[in-house]
Amino acid sequence: MMHDALAVSTAVDAPTPARTRMLADVRDGLFRRGQKELPPTYFYDARGSRLFDEITRLEEYYPTRAERALLETHADAIAELTSPRAFAELGAGTAEKSRVLLRAMLARGPVQYLPIDVDGHTLDETARALRRALPALEVAPIVADMRDDVSADGARHPLLYGFLGSTIGNFDTPAAVALLQSIRTSLRPGDRLLVGMDLVKDTRVLEAAYNDGKGVTREFNLNVLRVLNRELGADFPLEAFEHRAIYDEALARIEMHLDVRRDCTVRVPGIGCLELVAGESIRTEISCKYDRASATALLAAGGFQLTEWFVSAAPEFALAVAEPVE
Ligand code: AVJ
Repeated sequence: MMHDALAVSTAVDAPTPARTRMLADVRDGLFRRGQKELPPTYFYDARGSRLFDEITRLEEYYPTRAERALLETHADAIAELTSPRAFAELGAGTAEKSRVLLRAMLARGPVQYLPIDVDGHTLDETARALRRALPALEVAPIVADMRDDVSADGARHPLLYGFLGSTIGNFDTPAAVALLQSIRTSLRPGDRLLVGMDLVKDTRVLEAAYNDGKGVTREFNLNVLRVLNRELGADFPLEAFEHRAIYDEALARIEMHLDVRRDCTVRVPGIGCLELVAGESIRTEISCKYDRASATALLAAGGFQLTEWFVSAAPEFALAVAEPVE
């Protein structure tokens, strides 16, 4: 995924735009009544990206493997759909899984690839690696935070717009609808959207994927506090927090929390002192799970009609193809 999106600078007091945004997110998410929360964006500094990479190879974490298998099986069918001349990919990261799709498209003619990612360094490396591996490919990277901007400016058409990895699951329904609606503004008639979506299944399978035996997900979850300590000069005591990931059947989503084990006061320079009480938690991520009906409804609310639905072998993961509705 992303590489070092959060290494904004070394001096804790330098107010870069990234740090200003982080401070606002911490103020909104932690200095509030009710459930405290942090955006999952801040997991992914260099260390967090490495940990996520490790997660994708864990026995228990099936989504990455299942999606890769689906892409390998259906790359030709997807490339055939509208013979896209461009592939834009939101949250492209290293674009590792996308290569099979790009190869299938290149077999049908020239292709422009527009990887969109919050981390410019990762994008540079991705672009360099792809230009070397696929010299016929035109690579046009776009640096953007998907919370602000998802447009694929400069894309050729027909365009295939990809959002893989079930990252859409990080957004609750209103936010996912808003995201889809803004993606849609980059699409024209004849363009397609390709979304990777993890599917509802046995709670034990879902919870195991976020509570791995090696404790990598636990480290990944705690990493967000290391990021805040380093970037904001905060002093979250890591040992006072515990990883918890549970599946909420009613909401059809995994919730990841950092449970507070003992009362503590955390100093966040630029904001103030945060009083945390034993037993409360910080929600660090939601990961929504779908079925065909909920995916169809979500896409419809975002201005899309589902046209293809590819499902992997168990544990099930899906690739949804959709077209913009007029
Ligand atoms: C990258 C957001 C799809 O929700 O499964 C993995 C992140 N969090 N283990 C997911 C994640 C904990 C992942 N996404």
